[in-house]
Amino acid sequence: FGRALRYQGTVTSTQDEVRFWADSERGPAPHGAVVVAERQTAGRGRRGRVWDTTHGTLAFSVLLREALSLADLVRMPLAAGVALHAACTALGVPCGLKWPNDLLTPDGRKLAGILLEADLRGEEARRAVLGIGINVGTAPEGAAHLHESVPDLTRAAVLGEVLFQLEHWLAQPAPAIIATWKATSLTLGRPVRVTTARGTVEGVARDLDEQGNLLVETAAGLETVSAGDVQLVGQ
Ligand code: BTN
Repeated sequence: FGRALRYQGTVTSTQDEVRFWADSERGPAPHGAVVVAERQTAGRGRRGRVWDTTHGTLAFSVLLREALSLADLVRMPLAAGVALHAACTALGVPCGLKWPNDLLTPDGRKLAGILLEADLRGEEARRAVLGIGINVGTAPEGAAHLHESVPDLTRAAVLGEVLFQLEHWLAQPAPAIIATWKATSLTLGRPVRVTTARGTVEGVARDLDEQGNLLVETAAGLETVSAGDVQLVGQ
């Protein structure tokens, strides 16, 4: 990943820029192409949220051009989280994962987030764009940044390490990804409140199933959550 790379100043979202490049008639972007931007005017997060990109944030998107099955689309967000965790650990930053793929400090503040957008066609995606935002030297209120634990990290060093880990982890089979995810989790064993399209699920996060869904033990029994927003209760 990143052998084809564009560095841009201000863009709407690196997610859009990668798509424009992929569709370009003058040399479309190859698999693994990366767009990094200094600022985004319409950076987006999961579940329709805004992602604030100011100076000191590392914001980039990777083009995945291989045909992806629905199983790949479930596996990949977790694999990307594991890759981000591996990269930050290698750089000396203490961190853990909140389901599905937020990178947090051990005290629960957000260091980085991942957004996977797939262009679906029936049961398959023709391509997908993986966007990552990392608070390197600055963070919005309540969030954390990498310089709190490793002050001299450069964005280039972080980008290089994350791309290296992504290339490795996206190629791994689901059982390896899920086992590693569990070992780096800040979610399992904790009381959680999960907001899903069908309502709120409250209980203790117990496990991931073999597809990567979150299993929450509620008063009414074990519930399987395939998509949602987890709040760690009591933090
Ligand atoms: C989240 O935690 O909700 C995901 C945040 C993803 C932000 C990144 S920044 C680079 C890429 N471009 C975007 O517009 N979003 C992603």
